[in-house]
Amino acid sequence: MTVPAMLPADAQQQLPLNVLAALEGSRWAADRRYHLAFPGATDRTYPDLAAILTGQLLNNVGDPWTDGHGRNHSKSYEIDVVRRLGALFGAGEQVWGYVASGATEGTIHAIDEAATAYPDVVVYASTAAHYSAAKAARLVRAPLVQIRTDAHGRISLDELRAQLLCFRGRPAAIVATVGTTETEAVDDVAGIAGLCDDLGISRRRIHVDAALAGIPLALLPDQPRFGFTAGATSLVISGHKYLSTLMPCAVLLYPRRPDHPGGEVAYIGATDTTIAGSRSGHTPLLLHWSLTTGGGLETHHQRAEQARRLAAYTHDRLRHLGWPSHWEWPAFTITLAQPAAPLPQPWVLGGDQHTGRIICMPGLRQEWIDEFCTDLAGQTPHPGVPRQRRRNHRRPA
Ligand SMILES: Cc1ncc(COP(=O)(O)O)c(C=O)c1O
Repeated sequence: MTVPAMLPADAQQQLPLNVLAALEGSRWAADRRYHLAFPGATDRTYPDLAAILTGQLLNNVGDPWTDGHGRNHSKSYEIDVVRRLGALFGAGEQVWGYVASGATEGTIHAIDEAATAYPDVVVYASTAAHYSAAKAARLVRAPLVQIRTDAHGRISLDELRAQLLCFRGRPAAIVATVGTTETEAVDDVAGIAGLCDDLGISRRRIHVDAALAGIPLALLPDQPRFGFTAGATSLVISGHKYLSTLMPCAVLLYPRRPDHPGGEVAYIGATDTTIAGSRSGHTPLLLHWSLTTGGGLETHHQRAEQARRLAAYTHDRLRHLGWPSHWEWPAFTITLAQPAAPLPQPWVLGGDQHTGRIICMPGLRQEWIDEFCTDLAGQTPHPGVPRQRRRNHRRPA
């Protein structure tokens, strides 16, 4: 199938706006199939919210728990989302958090909180952590220590121990990743907390970046925990990755309200505890709808199971082609060797020169995987073995 290129600016100007919007909409919909490496679920849509989303200004400026001067906000929905997700990750009644612009903002908030509490904090993150960890450390002018990963893409606890010992006496802010960007590896949060206990590091923060995999993993029964009961002191999940909010957003959670230097701002009538000033009031609604309608969390678990079945299918197809690839339950991500030459259609595999990925998010269709495999047949893989990942999860019999 060919995707029409974006219309040139002069052609756009001549079209009625409704025709232009319909044309662009169908182009983006047709393009969706190629985004195999894009971790955004697209299976949930929100027609009931259309009038609000396109016809109503909602600005959740300031802290969700302070209404502020205006009434055009959705803070009651935002608090409900924070409480629901807090319960999922083991926070109690005191949970605090907010809906951020994305997981990056959540990590910046967590590292800023750590640096405010401990001005001489050292930030630790694995080499597989998202670049937002380095960005957050840079913004608060804290040193960043990058920890190598083990053979399965997880932060190496041995290396972390060695580095914590090097900076003995300094407070630690450790970013643990639950679902790394490239291979969906899951760091051992309880292991990190245990390591800090062993070394007597009580001035610490463990921020869990669970942008992609946090919700689907938390819904799996009988698995190791990585939230607040495992020792996390803050956690962020993304809304547009697994929950299919279709607009970038994230939910940042703390088990209790952190001390924050931002006080009441007269101009907004609310407390300044967030990184951003004005914040979307639409994304809390999308999150709330995603979490509460159509079967709630049970449906989200079923969506994850279906996506894992597609991941298993994709891995099988690649193996039958003899294409170097790796997948392990319960991931959505298959890593695979990059094709040595460009494919006939514009499939997006992300990654680097050697290793690409297919992330079977809800919304990705089996027929697109079939189409991709047809294009791949007869191609030559880039030499070298694709990077692998492994989790700490036990697959039920
Ligand atoms: C593990 C992880 N953390 C954080 C992010 C950043 O999310 P955002 O772009 O919403 O800030 C990503 C994005 O891919 C990610 O994979």
